[in-house]
This record gives sequence, C-alpha cells and structure tokens, in this order.
Amino acid sequence: MEFENIIYEVKNRIAFITFNRPKALNALNRALLQEMKAALDSLEKNDEVRVLILSGAGEKAFVAGADISELGTMDSVEGRDFSDLGHEVMDKLQSLSIPVIASVKGFALGGGSEIALACDFIYAAENAVFGLPELTLGLIPGFGGTQRLPRLVGKNMAKELILTAEKIKANRALELGIVNRVFSVEELDSSVLKTAEKIASLGKWSVRAAKESVNTGMDVDLSAGCRIEKNAFSVCFSTYDAKEGTKAFLEKRAPAFK
Ligand code: CAA
Repeated sequence: MEFENIIYEVKNRIAFITFNRPKALNALNRALLQEMKAALDSLEKNDEVRVLILSGAGEKAFVAGADISELGTMDSVEGRDFSDLGHEVMDKLQSLSIPVIASVKGFALGGGSEIALACDFIYAAENAVFGLPELTLGLIPGFGGTQRLPRLVGKNMAKELILTAEKIKANRALELGIVNRVFSVEELDSSVLKTAEKIASLGKWSVRAAKESVNTGMDVDLSAGCRIEKNAFSVCFSTYDAKEGTKAFLEKRAPAFK
C-alpha cells in the first residue's frame, strides 16, 4: 500500500510511524486510519523490528483528533463505522507484539490523545497539550477515550477531564500519570530513541511476554493475572534468550540476544 497520510520507516530495528497531515494538524481521516492499519499489519509480520515510535509531522501537533471535516458529514451508521475503524487501529496498537512509544509534541487532542493512550507509554515535550474535547463538538470520545483514560487515571479524574473537555499541559499530564516523562522540545526525539534502543537491545521474546502479561493481567483479577504471569515466565525458559541471558550473567559478559 502507498502511504500518503503517514510516513512509515524502519531503521536499526526501530519502526517509526509519523502522522503526516501537518496542514490539518495531522487530523485522523479514514484514509490515514486505513494506512495505519496496513502499516501495523506489515509491522507485525516484520521479525526484525523491536519497537515502534509514533509521532506527528511538524512542531505543532502530534494529532489534533479525528478529522472534523469528515465527522461533520457523517450519519449514525457512518459514525459507528468510523468508530469501529478507529477502535480496530487502537486495538492493533495495544496488542502489537512489540512495545509502542508515543512521542508527543504539541496538540494530542481527541483521537490524538486516544492513540497515545493505546500506546505502551507516552513521552511528551513541554509544549504537549492533551485532552478529550469531543463534548465541545456535541460528541463523545469515539476511539477508546472513555475506556482507556479511566483505567489510567481513575474513574473520577477521567470524568472531570472528559465532561469539562479541559485541555491539559504536559506537566499536568505527568502528574496524572498519563505521560511517563516530559522533555524539552529539542530533547524529546533523542530521549525517545534512547529508550527505544534500550528496549531493542533486550530479548524479543521476553519483551513480548512482559508486555502481554501486563496488558492481559490488567483486564482480569489478581490471581488470574498471576497465573498469566506464571505461564509466560515458564514459556521464556524455552527460548534461546533465557539461556543466553542467564549464562552471560554468570560469565560476567553482555548477553547476545537473538
Ligand atoms: N480536524 C480537521 N482539521 C483540523 C483539526 C481536526 N481535528 N484540528 C485542526 N484542524 C485544521 C484547522 O481547521 C486549520 O485548517 P485551515 O488552516 O485550513 O483553517 C488547521 O488545522 C490549523 O488549525 P487552527 O487554525 O485551528 O490552529 P490553532 O493553533 O488556532 O488551534 C487547535 C489548534 C486548538 C488544536 C484547534 O485546531 C482545535 O481545536 N482543533 C480541533 C481539536 C478537536 O476538537 N479534536 C477532537 C476531534 S473529535 C475526535 O477526535 C473524535 C474521536 O474521539 C475519534
């Protein structure tokens, strides 16, 4: 598939998807979401890639939400189809076997915040602005915001943010636990890359098992979650990396993971 609304690149085992509609602040139209779907499907089949980084083209926005010019023409059935498509992309991001880091500069509003929330974690620049302003359009969040935000910040805090449509700056998002770290605009890219390289240097199977254990464990009770962890832990022992990692430690050398 030719990509016109995103840039998809792989360099040194790290994949980069850049939302690329800067004139519309990288707003999510149907075409962009279809391209994301295709890029994520191709990524899932690429054995070399270890981490995905998402960012927005330009300094002004990560993603300013769903494309309001498309939303304005939709009837209820089309709205449902659009939400289905958005959720499909968010689900693919969340369940991708490699970690996904959202690198947020500027506006991450509506669907932009929702994409970031579907990633494994968010690093933000000081100029980042998050929020779910859908109620100002007479809508509600449609790409998972009413579900992922309360799971991250708690029910009442999420309701305050959604019901007031308040936009929050990076430092407030840090206080609430929405973003993991805040950097200057100049330092964001290199800091995200450093973390991605750290993850890429670890064993692929253990990274995958750890992500899956946390994600599936959060949707079940503690004892079921601990069973998920025990199974994933035991599967690690069948990998080359577990043998190499433990052997390298005992031989006082760096592991060479496959
Ligand atoms: N959809 C389509 N176009 C958008 C857009 C969006 N979500 N956000 C910005 N743009 C366009 C603007 O229309 C403008 O285009 P023109 O130059 O052709 O007029 C261009 O991007 C630049 O935007 P502004 O001139 O508005 O820039 P600003 O600096 O004055 O304001 C902003 C920036 C505060 C982000 C403002 O653009 C804004 O409020 N955008 C909409 C944010 C929003 O409501 N997002 C939620 C969308 S609904 C949703 O996401 C549903 C869901 O859950 C999936």
